[in-house]
Order: sequence, then C-alpha cells, then structure tokens
Amino acid sequence: MSHRHFEGGRLIVASHNPGKVREIKELLAPFQADVVSAGDLDLPEPEETGLTFIANAELKALASARAANAVALADDSGLAVSALNGAPGIYSARWAGPDKDFDMAMRKIESELGDAADRSAKFVCALTLAWPDGHCETFEGTVSGVLTFPQRGDKGFGYDPIFVPDGYDITFAEMDPDKKHDMSHRADAFSKLVPACFA
Ligand code: IMP
Repeated sequence: MSHRHFEGGRLIVASHNPGKVREIKELLAPFQADVVSAGDLDLPEPEETGLTFIANAELKALASARAANAVALADDSGLAVSALNGAPGIYSARWAGPDKDFDMAMRKIESELGDAADRSAKFVCALTLAWPDGHCETFEGTVSGVLTFPQRGDKGFGYDPIFVPDGYDITFAEMDPDKKHDMSHRADAFSKLVPACFA
C-alpha cells in the first residue's frame, strides 16, 4: 500500500499537552521537520466526539491541519480493559474527571472489575498525520498486559501504576521511563508511521 510522505517543513503537533508535545518532538528529531504545537499557535482544541481512538486522532489532526494550513500530527490514546468491554477506552482521560484524578479513575476500574478473573488490558494509541486537503495517514499501536491492585510505582502518569506489561512483573510506573517509551503503545504506533511517512 502506498502512503503519502511528509515532505519536510512545518509540522504541527495537534496537542495542547506539553508532555505529549515534548515526547513527539523527540521522536521526530531525526527528520526534517520544523515542529510547533497547536498550543504554541493558539489553535482551537476540537471536542473529541469520535467513537474510536482513530476517529478522535483524525478529528484532532485534521482540525489543526486545516486551521494552520500545514501538515499536522495527532494522537489519541487510552486504556482498554477486557473484562470491562474495552472501557475506559476513549474515555480514559474523562474517567479521571476535570481534576485529572487518576487515583479515583484507577479505583473505579478496580471496583468495576470486582472479582472478574480476567485482568487483561491494553494501552492503545492511534496516530494520524493529516494534510490540509483532508488526506489522513493513520496507524494504531498497542501494548498488552495485566492489571494489578493496589497501585505500584511513581514514575509514570495516568494508569501506569496498575499496568504490568506482558513479560514483566513491574508496572509501567515502576519501570525506567526510557524502557517504557521503547515498548509503549505510542512507540508501536510510531514504528508504523515512521517508515510509511517519514523514512
Ligand atoms: P488523550 O490525551 O485524549 O489521548 O488521553 C489519553 C488518556 O489515556 C490519558 O489521560 C491517560 O489517562 C491515558 N493514557 C494514555 N497513554 C497512557 C500511558 O502511557 N500511561 C498511562 N495512561 C495513559
């Protein structure tokens, strides 16, 4: 399948989250891109009305690409718990409420799981590169694991303290951040995007 390539020049990171923008800038450092964020340009943040990670990544990337008339990259991510039919999924940020209380969100997952035997879960990341003419290149990455309670570790963010990736016995929040970044859902999605659109 042929993909449209990024031909250099300005690239908008369609996010107002400085942590996410920093991580994406690092990942794109080897390529000829003049990276600026939607936050730096004061671009409006669209409402995430999609029903899938991919729909939300495309909606965010397209909004920035059209507003700035430049190529834009967006991601949408979250935690999908098997026994909860994929919840919190695209609502992962919303489960933490306006105060971003992930302690509460993780306790909610624990209580909704009850005594369910299946503790499997995965982090999912959809990445979209969008052009002002409406063209989108979209890739999805995942990392699978099991949930553990109570929370362990203080290195990560969000749901990291309850997620033990397959093949490990420590949570993402106990893991060295570089190691997590190498194996994360975002790294998996980037490993598909880069050869298709940047290499
Ligand atoms: P987004 O900014 O709409 O993509 O929100 C993603 C939400 O999913 C975040 O607020 C976190 O709650 C959760 N999430 C995504 N990636 C991770 C991760 O690597 N670790 C922990 N939580 C994550």
